[in-house]
Amino acid sequence: METYTYHTPVLTQEVLTYLLTAKNGYYVDGTLGGGGHAKAVLERLDRLGKVIGIDLDDDALAASRERLAQFGDHAIIVKENFRNIKFVLSQHGVNTVQGVLLDLGVSSFQIDESDKGFSFRADAQLDMRMDRHQQIDAKQVVNQYDEQPLADILWKYGEEKHARRIARAMVHYRIQHPIESTGQLAAIIERTVGGQFLNKTLARVFQAVRIEVNNEMENLRHAIRDCIDVLNPGGRIVVLSYHSLEDRLIKEAFRAASAHSIPSGHKIVPDTPVQPVLNVLTRKPVTASEEEMAANPRSRSAKLRAAEKV
Ligand SMILES: C[S@@+](CC[C@H](N)C(=O)[O-])C[C@H]1O[C@@H](n2cnc3c(N)ncnc32)[C@H](O)[C@@H]1O
Repeated sequence: METYTYHTPVLTQEVLTYLLTAKNGYYVDGTLGGGGHAKAVLERLDRLGKVIGIDLDDDALAASRERLAQFGDHAIIVKENFRNIKFVLSQHGVNTVQGVLLDLGVSSFQIDESDKGFSFRADAQLDMRMDRHQQIDAKQVVNQYDEQPLADILWKYGEEKHARRIARAMVHYRIQHPIESTGQLAAIIERTVGGQFLNKTLARVFQAVRIEVNNEMENLRHAIRDCIDVLNPGGRIVVLSYHSLEDRLIKEAFRAASAHSIPSGHKIVPDTPVQPVLNVLTRKPVTASEEEMAANPRSRSAKLRAAEKV
């Protein structure tokens, strides 16, 4: 496994096995990050093959521009949201591609770079925006949302069982002072739930706020449909996810696109037959080996699902 200081790519061999079906094809990496997966793909392409790499984060774009410079115009790097994949392709005169990769969430670099405010392990301004030009940040979510929507977010995106108590504590605290730093948010959570599982609670709450700030579930829901649309017949979509909400969404999207009928929902009304669009290649998600998990803790929660356009 290749190591690189920006971010160590997860399940690289498995990504290549599922994604690559033509050495001269065009591929989209919708979550370019430090360019680890993109580099591995580019190394296996022939003269006409290209990777269109998309990311929202300026630091990721700068890191991957440097890392992929050796591939010249075989690597096309674009600042965009992957949900706008069709727009990006149209800007480059491309209609369909041979493969799309999404490696969801944030990179180790984003987590470790404390000024982005993603981590409860370092005290920093609460920010959590992947795209620094976006308006809404974590400070606005925790200070401006009412108690009920805040609790719903912690419950829905963090699957946090103390969601209601934590949301109430946040609202109570901010009557006196705005919640401006990761340290303040972590201290509110600690005072509310404490206990031996504190780190897990902190991780769940921070994850929930991050998902809300970056509109991650909505982006994914929207993107999956368009990623499938832009595939050539025989082209593949590969998605790596890191929490159960994302994995469920992908599993259901793949299931719907590979169905042979739409259930009528009624006993005596027959189901409507439809032409499946996808053939799912991974009945169960692929996970990292023991060795990879030991070498790269981030791979522990990774789940890879892949499907082929019919
Ligand atoms: C897990 S990292 C990808 C790491 C990459 N595979 C590598 O090998 O370095 C996820 C990246 O996706 C980006 N990202 C997340 N959501 C995005 C979105 N909706 N549109 C574009 N980029 C996004 C993040 O900024 C981050 O750089």
